[in-house]
Amino acid sequence: MDSVEILFIVALAVLLGWSVAVAISRGRAIDRLRDATGASDADDVERMVRKAIEDADDARWHAEQTGHDTDYLTELLTAGVVRLKDDLTVEFANSAAHVMLERKPGTMAGRSALEAFIDARIEGIARSAMESGSANGEVTVRSQSGATVTVRARRSPVAGVWLVLEDVSELRRLQRMRAEFIDNLSHELRTPLTTISLLAETAARDAESASPRLRDRISKIEIETGHLTQMVNELLDLSRIESGTVQLMLDDVDLVRLARNTAERLRLFAERQGLTIDLDVPDRVSPVRGDEDRLGQVLVNLLHNAVKFSPDGGRIVVGVREDQGEVRVWVRDPGIGVPYADLARIFERFYKVDRARVRGRGGTGLGLSICRHVVESHGGRIWAESEDGSGSTFILVLPQAGQGGPVE
Ligand SMILES: Nc1ncnc2c1ncn2[C@@H]1O[C@H](COP(=O)(O)OP(=O)(O)OP(=O)(O)O)[C@@H](O)[C@H]1O
Ligand SMILES: [Mg+2]
Repeated sequence: MDSVEILFIVALAVLLGWSVAVAISRGRAIDRLRDATGASDADDVERMVRKAIEDADDARWHAEQTGHDTDYLTELLTAGVVRLKDDLTVEFANSAAHVMLERKPGTMAGRSALEAFIDARIEGIARSAMESGSANGEVTVRSQSGATVTVRARRSPVAGVWLVLEDVSELRRLQRMRAEFIDNLSHELRTPLTTISLLAETAARDAESASPRLRDRISKIEIETGHLTQMVNELLDLSRIESGTVQLMLDDVDLVRLARNTAERLRLFAERQGLTIDLDVPDRVSPVRGDEDRLGQVLVNLLHNAVKFSPDGGRIVVGVREDQGEVRVWVRDPGIGVPYADLARIFERFYKVDRARVRGRGGTGLGLSICRHVVESHGGRIWAESEDGSGSTFILVLPQAGQGGPVE
């Protein structure tokens, strides 16, 4: 054999070996596929593989359709919707978001949050949602329209952050108008009311020798004028507190002393209704940071209610305790109580429980909403507990000085 023949035979042997190896590995691969899919033979494997490819195509098509549908839905929304990637670049922003932030259509996607929003505050909200899971805020857009936009940001359970923007300019404008209207109206009403009140007082003095009927009428005028004045003052107070124009005069406040003083102020009023006011207070508690007059107003409102809604006499208790960085104050009365369904609502403006129950004793329904505003502006909380018919307890909790109270 010459060397060419030897070379030919060697090449043939290598080719044969390679073909056998390929066949064996294919066979193994098919065996593995059969094992994995539970197929009985190679035909079955082929059928299953084809089916898997079809299913994958189907799933891809459905995912694309769902994506289109979601895009369509977000375009229908009047709220702005923005999706940011993990690195805070805009992946998607609907038309409403472009309109609200005054960006040209389609110019936000692909940009960093700062470039897209041109507002570090919105980027800041997105960033803190990325870190903590959620963040909210309200910003006035620096553009021609100057729209007021609320921003709600949530970290997506999949990836990135979702932002929902809502234009609340009109709502805020109406709220401002309402506050201004109440403010002006209360101001205008105060002057004639003061005059009526003074005239009624003078008339009462002049009428000492008049008939009992006339004296009775004059005294009713005095009482009703007093109610009207209180109502107008409360309205004015509430509108100022709500609009944030009231400045808190902050100082260290001793709530035990405040509770004692307030109880003293209302003792006579309570005794006239056969009620006693008892104190359940320690010698001293840590001070809270707050406005003493405003906090005093809260306690007066609560005690006033306690007396007003406890018609049959009994014992009112004002308590103070210190607990884990907070000071808790409560006012417990033996009165008519508050039905469970009304417990949360009595802190709303003008909300009064069934007027028939308290005929002649109800006021404007503003006292508790003023209390809530004052307590919350001090970084505290207030709520009521009651079993209908067996008294109520109003509780407020304020942070101790240095533990996160009102902004100085
Ligand atoms: N201690 C209480 N016991 C029973 N019901 C109460 C008590 N305090 C408040 N309420 C109920 O909650 C309502 C709201 O109280 P709020 O102090 O806001 O208004 P008001 O006392 O009726 O009027 P205002 O305080 O403005 O003079 C009351 O009308 C009453 O129905
Ligand atoms: Mg009241």
